[in-house]
Amino acid sequence: MSIDLKDRVLVITGGGTGIGASTAMAAAHAGMHVFLCGRRSEPLQRIVDGIRSLGSQAFFMELDVTERDSEIRLLDEAEARLGTPWAIFANAGRGLSRPAHETTPDEMASIFEVNFFATHRLFSEATRRMIEHGRGGHLLACASCLSRFAIPDHAAYAATKASQDMLCQAVRMEVEPHGIHVSSVHPITTTTEFFDTAARHSGVDDLSVMKDTPRAFIQSPDRVADAIVRCLRKPRPEVWTSRIVRYATVIRNLYPKFFDRRTRNMKT
Ligand SMILES: NC(=O)c1ccc[n+]([C@@H]2O[C@H](COP(=O)([O-])OP(=O)(O)OC[C@H]3O[C@@H](n4cnc5c(N)ncnc54)[C@H](OP(=O)(O)O)[C@@H]3O)[C@@H](O)[C@H]2O)c1
Repeated sequence: MSIDLKDRVLVITGGGTGIGASTAMAAAHAGMHVFLCGRRSEPLQRIVDGIRSLGSQAFFMELDVTERDSEIRLLDEAEARLGTPWAIFANAGRGLSRPAHETTPDEMASIFEVNFFATHRLFSEATRRMIEHGRGGHLLACASCLSRFAIPDHAAYAATKASQDMLCQAVRMEVEPHGIHVSSVHPITTTTEFFDTAARHSGVDDLSVMKDTPRAFIQSPDRVADAIVRCLRKPRPEVWTSRIVRYATVIRNLYPKFFDRRTRNMKT
């Protein structure tokens, strides 16, 4: 069974750029109305204009998802502008490249704030509202392939993504009786601002990931967005955009020592 997305409302955090922006456009192509948030209004306004030119409704609000009660303000404003959201995509996030022993407790807390705690708060508030409305819904979180295996210098980032992944797994079973779907999204290296932002937070000029990653393992945000919209139509627990990497996670579980040998030189 395929869900008709026309006129349903999707809320996306971090919707002004990258995967969030591409998902907003792909969802609008499918007839959805979209409410976006992020800290910078300029990119958000561009995406809102693009969505409106497709005939869908769209609004944004400037919002830092790490602020307390930001999830309440976001869902209140989305509901006031567009009506009850059907789907929520917790996508806002960032990276950090630093060996674990050089990562300070403040840096660790800060990346968990945006990547994990904000997702937990948004999922919890959205779940309460969806249960109250009794019409089901769909919660999605942008985790990563690094939610299933780590690479050197990315302990903090991988830990936040593994946490999002586990949150999705547990919440999926908790809310299933209410007709609410939960999906974790696991992109591989995607051509977005992500690496520039991560470099800034890591205090380096740039991360070499785009140069060093084989082309076969680099994808566009549009590809991730198309997979997300397919999942909105036909809900499933996980969205993977690389079959090879998905299979690699199985190898990692079975042969961790072998996997470490293959990945220990993968630094970004
Ligand atoms: N690119 C990759 O290779 C890759 C791979 C796997 C997973 N992911 C995940 O994909 C998600 C989206 O990243 P992306 O690749 O699309 O990079 P991106 O273009 O940098 O998108 C991140 C978005 O999050 C927003 N954001 C960051 N901190 C925020 C905060 N405190 N409050 C509100 N919004 C915030 C940013 O907007 P503002 O700066 O305007 O707030 C930006 O629009 C992230 O969760 C990332 O971990 C990315």
